[in-house]
Amino acid sequence: MSGMFALNSGDAAIVLEPREGRAPAWRHWGAAVDVAGLPPLADTRGAASFSFDEDVPFDSAPVGGLGWFGPAAVELRDATGAGMVVSWTNSDVARTDDGLVICLDDTVQGVRLVQTIAADGLGGFRMGATLTNIGPAPIQLDWLASAVLPLPGDAAQLVSWRGRHNAELVQKVEPLPAHAWQREGRRGIAGHGGPAGLFVLGEGAGHATGPVHALQLCWSGDSRIRVERDDEGFFIAMAGARLAPGEVVLAPGASWHAPDVLAAWSSHGRNGATAVFHAAVRAMVRWPGGTMPPRKVHLNSWEACYFDHDEARILALAEAAAQIGIERFVLDDGWFVGRNDDTAGLGDWTPDPAKYPQGLAPLAHRIIATGMEFGLWVEPEMVNPDSDLYRAHPGWALALPDRARPTARNQSVLDLSQAAVRDYLFDCLDHLLRDVPISYLKWDHNRDLAPSGGAAQVRGLYDLLARLRAAHPGVEIEACAGGGGRSDAGMAPYVHRYWTSDNIDAVSRVDIQRGFLAFLPPEMMGSHVGASPAHATGRAQALAFRAAVAMPGHFGVEMDPRTLDAQERDELAGWIGFHRTWRDLLHSGQVWLGEGPDGLVWQAQGNAQAQLLFAIRRAPAADRRPQPLRLPHLAGQGACKVRLLRLAGGTGGHAAPTAPLHRAMVDAPVTLAGNWLAHAGLPMPPMNAQTVAIFHIEAG
Ligand code: GLA
Repeated sequence: MSGMFALNSGDAAIVLEPREGRAPAWRHWGAAVDVAGLPPLADTRGAASFSFDEDVPFDSAPVGGLGWFGPAAVELRDATGAGMVVSWTNSDVARTDDGLVICLDDTVQGVRLVQTIAADGLGGFRMGATLTNIGPAPIQLDWLASAVLPLPGDAAQLVSWRGRHNAELVQKVEPLPAHAWQREGRRGIAGHGGPAGLFVLGEGAGHATGPVHALQLCWSGDSRIRVERDDEGFFIAMAGARLAPGEVVLAPGASWHAPDVLAAWSSHGRNGATAVFHAAVRAMVRWPGGTMPPRKVHLNSWEACYFDHDEARILALAEAAAQIGIERFVLDDGWFVGRNDDTAGLGDWTPDPAKYPQGLAPLAHRIIATGMEFGLWVEPEMVNPDSDLYRAHPGWALALPDRARPTARNQSVLDLSQAAVRDYLFDCLDHLLRDVPISYLKWDHNRDLAPSGGAAQVRGLYDLLARLRAAHPGVEIEACAGGGGRSDAGMAPYVHRYWTSDNIDAVSRVDIQRGFLAFLPPEMMGSHVGASPAHATGRAQALAFRAAVAMPGHFGVEMDPRTLDAQERDELAGWIGFHRTWRDLLHSGQVWLGEGPDGLVWQAQGNAQAQLLFAIRRAPAADRRPQPLRLPHLAGQGACKVRLLRLAGGTGGHAAPTAPLHRAMVDAPVTLAGNWLAHAGLPMPPMNAQTVAIFHIEAG
C-alpha cells in the first residue's frame, strides 16, 4: 500500500498512516525510509491476547477511555468538572508545502484538534497542536500535548538536564525507564535546568555517532516532557505546556494553541541532533535588518560595580572598555530611581536623578561617541513592593485573594495577562527607547513565580516583546533570568542572546555551556570573561583560561578592566581581538562536542572548510603523557591543515613540557589526514589544569 503520509526532512522521516475517522497511526520517526509497498499496519499486526477486538494502535493523537491505555494527547473536563472521554469521529489530513495538517473532530463531545507537522529539510520537524471547542458548552482543558511521538523500543539512554541558579544545565544520563520518566517545570520560567527537552540515544550512540532522537519545547513557562514505555515494547514521548486545573476554560468557539515542539533525529549522534536544533532556532531569530550582524563584544557593568554607580563612574568604566576593544557597553541594574540595592525600585523605569541627574541620554551619547553601542538592563515583569508602581497598583502583581504575597529577591511579579500592565510596560520601555539611544536591552527576570501566572503570563510576555520589537526593530534583546533561567527556544523569536549563567567561573562554565549548546546556537550564548577570583565561586583562574572558555559564544567582559595591570589589560584586549577575528567562523556553522581521554573535553565550531577546535583540560591529567584526541567528525575529510593558535592557561606551577610538533604547529600548519585525526587522533600538547588548546583546522 502506500497512501502513507511520509515526510522526509534531511536524513530523517516521519511516516503516518491515514485511518478513516481516526487519527493517523504512527509508523515511523527516525531515518529516512522508502514507504513504497509498505503494507497497512493492520496487515502487520496479528491479534494480541487480552486486547480489544478492534485494534487500538498508537496514533498521532491518542485519547484515553475507549481502549487506549497509554498517555493521552488531550485531557478535558466538562463544565461540571467531570472528565470527558474523547474519541475522534472525523479525521482529515491535508498535505502542505512542508508537511501535514491533521484535523480531528469529536462530534460527540464537540472538540476539534488540529495538529501540524512541518519538515525543515534538515532533520527537524516542528510540531504543534490547537484545540477548539466546537460544542455548545464550556470545556476545561487540563492537558494538550504539543506532539506525541514514538521512540524505538531498543533506545538505550535518556539525556536530560537539571540545574539551579549558578549551576545551570547539569547533565544527567540514565537508562530508559521501565515505566515512565517525566520532567516537569513548575516555576513559571523554563528554569535553570534549561529548556524542556531531552535526547534519547540509541544503542551505542554518543556525541558523534549513532541514532539520536531529541525534543525541545518552544516555551518559556511551565512544561511537561514525558517518556513512557508502552506494553507493546516501544516508548512514547510527549511534550507540552503544563496547565493548572481550571487554567484554560474554552468557551464555545474558543481555541488554545499548545507551544510548538522541535523534534530532531540524526544518525550522527548527539551532535547531529544538536545541529538540527541549531538550524531550527536560527530560523526563528529575527535579526534587525534581517541577517545576523557580527556579535558585538560586550562589557556588562554588573560585576564591575553592582548597584554602586553614577554617571562619572560609568563613563570612566566605558572609556576603559572602549580602549580594550569593547563594542557594546551594557549598563546593568541600579540605574533607575530608588535602586541602590535589590530592595526597591523595580517598576519605576525612570533614571535615578541622584545618579544620573541629566537622565541617561547624555551618558549614552558619550558612550556612543567612544565607538560603542549603548545597552540597558531592565526587568520589566517585576515590581518591588517598595516602588511607586506597586503603591499605585497593588492589584497589578500576581497574587491570590486572602493569601500572603511571597517575595523573592524582595520582588513580586506583575500580572502580564492584564492588558493595562502590558500597556504600562510598553509605554515605559517605548519612552526609554525613544529618549535614549539604546540599541540593546538585557531583559531580566529574577525570581520563580508563586503564585503562578500560568500560560497567560507567558503569552503576555510574548505579546509585550512582539509589540516592542515591532516598534523598535533595530533593538536587540538578551533573555536572562537570574543567569540562565530563560534559555529556551520560546524566546527565540524575540531575543538575540541568552545570559547563560551568573556563574562566570570558567571551570563551571564548561559544562553549563555544553548543556546550553545542546539546544541553542553559540552566537546566542552570552559568555563573559569575569574577574579572578570568580565572584560566584571564589576560584582563581588565569585570564587566558577564562577568555578561552568564553571564546566560543557571544563574547564579553564582566569586570572593570582598570582592576587589571597594564600587561593583563593588553592581554584581554588581545583576546577581544582574537574573538573578533574568529567570531564569524564560530557563529555561523556547526558545533561538535566530544569527550577525550583523561578528563579532556573538546568542542569544534565552524564548517567542513575551516573550524576552531577547543581542547579543554579542567583538572590535572592522570596519565603520564596526553593521549591523542580523536575527532570523529573529520573522518570524511581529506588532508587537514592544523595550526595551534593558543595554549591558554596559567603560568604558575611547573611549566608544562612542550613537544616539537606543537612548537612547529604554532608557526605553520601541520598537515594530517582527516581520517587519521578521526580514528588515531590529534597529538595533544601536555596541558596543566585549567588550560585550553585552541587549534585551527582547515581543509587542504
Ligand atoms: C541577575 C542577572 C545578572 C544581573 C543581576 C542584576 O542576577 O543574571 O547578570 O543583571 O540580575 O540585578
